[in-house]
Amino acid sequence: MHIIMLDNDTDFDGWRKAARRLAVNDVTPSDVTWTVRGEAELFAGPCANDLPDMPHATFNVSARFIDLARTAILHRDRERFALLYRLVWRLRSHHDLLNATTDPEVGEIHAMARAVYRDIDRMHAQLRFREIGREQKAHYVAWFEPEHHIVEVAVPFFASRYADMPWSILTPDVCAHWDGHAISFTSGIDQSEVPTEDRLEDAWRRHYSGIFNPARLKVMEMPQAYWRNLPAGSIIRPLIEDAMRMTSGAFVERRTSEQRKPERRQDTPMARKQARDTIAALRDEAKDCRACPLWKDATQTVFGAGPQDASIMLVGEQPGDKEDLAGKPFIGPAGQMLDRALEEAGIDRRKVYVTNAVKHFKFVPRGKIRLHQKPGTPEIRACRQWYERELAAIKPELVVALGATAAQSVLGKITPINRNRGRLIEHDDTRVLVTVHPSYLLRLPDEDAKAREYQRFVDDLKIAAARLGQCTDAT
Ligand code: URA
Repeated sequence: MHIIMLDNDTDFDGWRKAARRLAVNDVTPSDVTWTVRGEAELFAGPCANDLPDMPHATFNVSARFIDLARTAILHRDRERFALLYRLVWRLRSHHDLLNATTDPEVGEIHAMARAVYRDIDRMHAQLRFREIGREQKAHYVAWFEPEHHIVEVAVPFFASRYADMPWSILTPDVCAHWDGHAISFTSGIDQSEVPTEDRLEDAWRRHYSGIFNPARLKVMEMPQAYWRNLPAGSIIRPLIEDAMRMTSGAFVERRTSEQRKPERRQDTPMARKQARDTIAALRDEAKDCRACPLWKDATQTVFGAGPQDASIMLVGEQPGDKEDLAGKPFIGPAGQMLDRALEEAGIDRRKVYVTNAVKHFKFVPRGKIRLHQKPGTPEIRACRQWYERELAAIKPELVVALGATAAQSVLGKITPINRNRGRLIEHDDTRVLVTVHPSYLLRLPDEDAKAREYQRFVDDLKIAAARLGQCTDAT
C-alpha cells in the first residue's frame, strides 16, 4: 500500500505530481491511500517519493481533465483524491472517458465540480462585508461558511471588486485578508468547536494586532443587507466595545446610545458599489482586475464598448491579439467578419454593445506570435462578474452569445451551440440568442461550407434584428 500525504486539502500540484508518479509506475488505485498532512499520522507505509520519478515516461491527460480535477479537488468529500486517481488510471486506456456520461465515476466527478462552482457562486453572491473602521481608514469584515475548500479560489473576486478597501473574510477553513495590495491567509477558525464571537474576535485581533488602535476607533453602520451573513449578534461590536471599555467609559456610553438609533449610511464605498454602475465606471474598475491570472501576460483589460442604452449586447469569447493591443473588442479579423454579418442582418454595430466573456487575452507565445488559447471554466467564472455588471448597467432587450465560451458565461452552464442556436432562450429575466463565433467561420477550410455557415450566422443575427423590431413596435 502506498500512502500519499498531500500538504493540505487543496494541494492540487501535490496530487498531480503523485498521481503521475504512481501511474507511470503502474500502481493500481486500490494500492493507494490518499491523506492530507495532519490526518496521516495513523498511517505508515511507502509514499510516492519512494517510487522512481521516471521523467522520460510519457503520460498525458487532457487539459479538460486537468481543469476538472483542479476544481473537483476542492470538494470536501475525502474520497476525491482517490476518485481522481481512479479516473487517471482509466483514462490511460479510455481516452474518451470524460464523455461517457453514464459512467458513475465520471458522473460523480462532474457533480463534485458543479458543487464546487455552486459554492463559489454562493460565496460571491451572499458574502456581505460589515464595515468597522478607524477615523481615516475603514476595514471590512465578513463571515462565511463554505461547503467546500473554495476560499482561496473565490477570494480574488473580492480583491478585484473591493480593491480599494482593506477587508478580512473569516471562515472556519482559512481566513483571507486584503490590504489593498495583496491577499494573505491565516488559519481558519476551528470548526470542531462551536464558533463563538470571542474566537472571531481573536482572529480579528491576531490579524490586525499591528494596526488596531482603539483610541481612534469608530464604528460605521452599514445597510442591514451587509449584516445578513454574520453569525447571530455582532462579531465585531464586542471587540470594539471591549477596546473602548479599555480606553474611555464615557465614550462607550456615547457610542452605545448612538448604536441604538443607527443612522443608515448609504454612501459608503461598499454601498456605492452596489448601486447601478455606469459602463465608464466599470471599465475603469476593470482595468485593475486580478480575478484570474490572465492579467499577468495580457497587455490590458479589454472591456466592452458601445452605448449604455444599447438594445443588443453581443458577447464574444475573449480579446484576440489585435484587441489586446488596442484595448477594444472585435476589431481584428473576427471583428471584421462580425461587422459584415451585422450589416447584412440590418443591425448597426454603433448601436450595439459589444463585449467578451473573458476580458484578458489568453495565449501561449510561439516565437514572435501569440497563439490564442481557449479560456477555461475558472477564467470564465472569474470574469463573469463583469458580464453581470455590464448586463445590469445596459439592461439590453437581447443578449447574443457568440460561440461556446460566451454561451457558457451568459447561460451559466456549458451549452452546445448547434442544439441551441437560432432560438430565443429566456434566462434569469434576460432574453438570449446563441449562435456561432465569427472566428469559427474564419477557420472553416472549405469555401462552400464557409459561405453556407456565414449565411446561417447572418440568419441568426436577423432573428435578433427581427425580435428587436417587434419589441420596438410593441412599446
Ligand atoms: N474574438 C472574440 O471573441 N472577441 C474579440 O474581441 C475578438 C476576437
